[in-house]
Amino acid sequence: MKLCVALDLASKEECLKLASELRGLDLWLKVGMRAFYREGFAFIEELKKIGDFRIFLDLKLYDIPNTMADACEELAKFGVDMINLHASAGEIALKICMQRLNTLKSRPLVLGVSALTSFDEQGFHQIYKQNLKEAVENFSKICFESSLDGMVCSVFESKLIKNATNQNFLTLTPGIRPFKEESDDQKRVADIQRAKQENADFIVVGRPIYKDNEPRKKCERILNEL
Ligand code: C5P
Repeated sequence: MKLCVALDLASKEECLKLASELRGLDLWLKVGMRAFYREGFAFIEELKKIGDFRIFLDLKLYDIPNTMADACEELAKFGVDMINLHASAGEIALKICMQRLNTLKSRPLVLGVSALTSFDEQGFHQIYKQNLKEAVENFSKICFESSLDGMVCSVFESKLIKNATNQNFLTLTPGIRPFKEESDDQKRVADIQRAKQENADFIVVGRPIYKDNEPRKKCERILNEL
């Protein structure tokens, strides 16, 4: 299991400071909309200069198929290591994105976003009119058949997804509170032990690391547990 640290801090300087503190640790960095929309690709180049981090660019693409495929190609050209697409963009969009990416010399890992971990059952039903677990299973099958590499999901759906597709189909799980910290706005949170039990391949941790007084020590503690 790999640790992916969410760089959701308010300024570029704070994000770069955190990355510098984490230099040398075996982890991924997750660059989200906040940093990317503010700083663009220059920010990712700076991160790569700081350390040998692998980068997950979490932009959750969602648009018509051709626009999504164009965006995927642009992101792939910048050498990020993982990107994600909303599964609800549909099978045609997902397949066209993968076809486009597979024409390139190398491509990032591509994950499908199923149900955001900020959704509880009621909030999810209000939008999708579907049971959350059934919807996640359905999204996952579509992503698997469209040749994506895995899913972004809550820990509680990781096994379900692997059983519905393939054990090698990756799961990346946000909503992790490694040592049962404050859940903030996340509804479906789990600790490391639970993530292990559910066979998650990646855990994403943001606030429990960057709000800690000693983020490097916190990461080391998490890595020890993994
Ligand atoms: O601070 P926290 O650990 O809650 O951060 C979780 C990160 O994972 C945030 O960057 C959030 O945008 C992202 N994420 C999520 N749920 C998803 C997909 C991504 O929380 N389903």
